Amino acid sequence: MTGTHGHPEVNIGLVGHVDHGKTTLVEALSGEWTDQHSEEMKRGISIRLGYADATFRRCPEGEDAAGYTVAEECPEHDVETDVLRTVSFVDAPGHETLMATMLAGAAIMDGAVLVISATEDVPQAQTEEHLMALDIIGIDNIVVAQNKVDLVDADQARRNYEQIQDFIEGTVAEDAPIVPISAGQNVNMDLLIEAVEEEIPTEDRDLDADAEMLVARSFDINRPGTTWDSLSGGVLGGSLAQGSLEADDEIELRPGREVEEGGQTEWRPVTTTVRSLQAGGEGVDEVTPGGLLGVGTGLDPSLTKGDALAGQIAGPPGTLPPVQEEFTMDIQLLDRIVAEDTDEVEEISTGEPLMLTIGTATTVGSVTSARDGEAEVALKRPVCAREGAKIAINRRIGARWRLIGVGTLRE
Ligand code: GTP
Repeated sequence: MTGTHGHPEVNIGLVGHVDHGKTTLVEALSGEWTDQHSEEMKRGISIRLGYADATFRRCPEGEDAAGYTVAEECPEHDVETDVLRTVSFVDAPGHETLMATMLAGAAIMDGAVLVISATEDVPQAQTEEHLMALDIIGIDNIVVAQNKVDLVDADQARRNYEQIQDFIEGTVAEDAPIVPISAGQNVNMDLLIEAVEEEIPTEDRDLDADAEMLVARSFDINRPGTTWDSLSGGVLGGSLAQGSLEADDEIELRPGREVEEGGQTEWRPVTTTVRSLQAGGEGVDEVTPGGLLGVGTGLDPSLTKGDALAGQIAGPPGTLPPVQEEFTMDIQLLDRIVAEDTDEVEEISTGEPLMLTIGTATTVGSVTSARDGEAEVALKRPVCAREGAKIAINRRIGARWRLIGVGTLRE
């Protein structure tokens, strides 16, 4: 158990409709946001990833679910609690325009808590969209938190609970436990922690495999006006899918950067060295999968500024999946546009632009040929992905990109 030194070992997505209480729930479970710490690098990463770590504990004297807590001391039994494990929460924004952020964030979630407010009808638009996204990305370790039960009476709570049951039936969350809570009033947090412990286990990871880090964000952490001799190298934020990383490791980033030479542009991998590592809010010598991490590199910070490298993959040189500028994908369209009652999804047609999310990468592609169940796309910005990768497909409808289906990358 890595819980003894408190490094997060699993990433849990917080998803759900705007204002249903994701942020409040994370606050209730983690006590504080990592972005309240002073360290510059950590601040940068936590703000942009919207995450916090929480350590789940158990009172040795507590019976059943009542023993689960985040408190270091059990107020009831006056004893120290035992550490179970530390988790990272990835907070997915509920605003509809940020669906792409949610989809890319889902690439680094091991499981998710779907927060649904007991005060509104089920489902609200992003409740449905987010659950569909979990389905498409293949996240089936789900706990449903029926939040704000302090604001409704018993009848309303029961009706809402039944609506949730109907809503999740036949979806990827079908078997998910529904836990009535009040994040605001700290009610039933023990039951919620118990459900997360049971439904979202820490997976066995292949630590001997070559490291593969999904880069979700990248930063220039230098304050304006920093002189060149005290500049810090570029920082990457994300999560390891496999393997481990240590300081001084050489890494490659793919697709890398776009270079222009003799009127031609092409993407070239970038190589650098790991200078520092952060996990669980502190500097560490080695990082392993589970939890969000920050990697200080030797890269020129202008290369990592403003998420410029978000969506890329980092790992030992020569080991990463291929860079795809165009590919064919097998396609499964949704029956209808999520969160709309009427609109059917029309077939994909040649020439249309699509927004594709592959891993943590979001890119726009133009359909060069489309047939029943498959399409060939040429990407504006290439991605690093291997055969079989899942692709969330979005089409522009009105002013918005709407999720219309899921693709599987074919060579
Ligand atoms: P976005 O990040 O905008 O998607 O919203 P969110 O899902 O993070 O919601 P947030 O946690 O910001 O909560 C929205 C509002 O509901 C805030 O005013 C909270 O104080 C309130 N709230 C959240 N949980 C509870 C609860 O359990 N009970 C009550 N009474 N209010 C709550």
